[in-house]
Amino acid sequence: MSGPLKDADHANRNNQFYGKDFITVKGLEKKDAEYIFTRAEAMRTIRDAKEILDVLHGLAVPIIFYQPSTRTFSSFLSATRFLGAIALPMQDMENFSSVSKGENLPDSIRSLSQTTDPSAIILRHPDNNSSEVATQYAKVPIINAGSGTAEHPTQALLDLYTIWKRLGTIDNLKIAFVGDLKFGRTVKSLASLLDQMGTNNELIFVSAKELALPEEYKQTLGPDARIHETEDILSVIENVDVVYLTRTQKEWFEKSGMMEQYEELKAKLKIGREEAALMREGAIVMHPLPRQDELRYGVDNDPKAAYWEQMRNGLYIRMALLEAILVKEPADHAERLGIKR
Ligand code: NCD
Repeated sequence: MSGPLKDADHANRNNQFYGKDFITVKGLEKKDAEYIFTRAEAMRTIRDAKEILDVLHGLAVPIIFYQPSTRTFSSFLSATRFLGAIALPMQDMENFSSVSKGENLPDSIRSLSQTTDPSAIILRHPDNNSSEVATQYAKVPIINAGSGTAEHPTQALLDLYTIWKRLGTIDNLKIAFVGDLKFGRTVKSLASLLDQMGTNNELIFVSAKELALPEEYKQTLGPDARIHETEDILSVIENVDVVYLTRTQKEWFEKSGMMEQYEELKAKLKIGREEAALMREGAIVMHPLPRQDELRYGVDNDPKAAYWEQMRNGLYIRMALLEAILVKEPADHAERLGIKR
């Protein structure tokens, strides 16, 4: 995909998302991303005009989080409300719901289906298969807002959208994924999308050996995937279009009994002002956040820093996705509201 998107009318006829779960990036095609990106552009226009929509009027959407979150939670919450739905925020499920009394995921999903009469359910959960499990107990679409160490499909869409917005293409790119590639879920979902949808991309996985991308995951990438692995960010930084940094995932070190290695591994890969200066003109630094030391504050005002707009794009992408799942043929709202693009 490169250059401008097709017009919204064209895209409206290709809403593959209506009525479906969105729990994995597997099977997503370029035309699906193109559709969501087109709709996200419309959502951007609407929010720039400080408009809200009423397209999900009266529909209840519980946002059920078993793990902490700043960006994903708040952007789903505001996206739901900006579309006129009744957002039902349920954070910290493990402490404030009956999960603390031993309730399992199937019972929570069935119970909340009864009590909130949902039209869709947004779920973040520490188990890799949690979204799949939820689909078996919910009668409405499940949207995966992060499942274990495996998937974060809405993050991958907003990441891909950010790449497309900044670089104008999702093809012929060199992308360095840096940090904790073992436990981080965002890298896995984004690398899959770049492999599935992009042409001729080079995926460079930069990590300490202990935090390398798991072999079983690498095997899910297509047979033509161009993959490199290194422990040295400086050996690739001058040649890449994107540096996608990730946090060393302390909570998974704890669960895996690896805490004695945490401090050492956390300190290994860092990007500061000096490293960013080595990157090519026009190259970008991305990060799903939260950050630790791997992304120094000195990069924040560098034009290469794309992470602030990356998180903002999450709002537009999530608005677009929620509408696509819940409305069969979304209208051209900007035109209807008389907003100039
Ligand atoms: C990420 C996540 O939850 O996987 N955060 C996010 O959604 N933006 C990354 C992380 O926690 O490191």
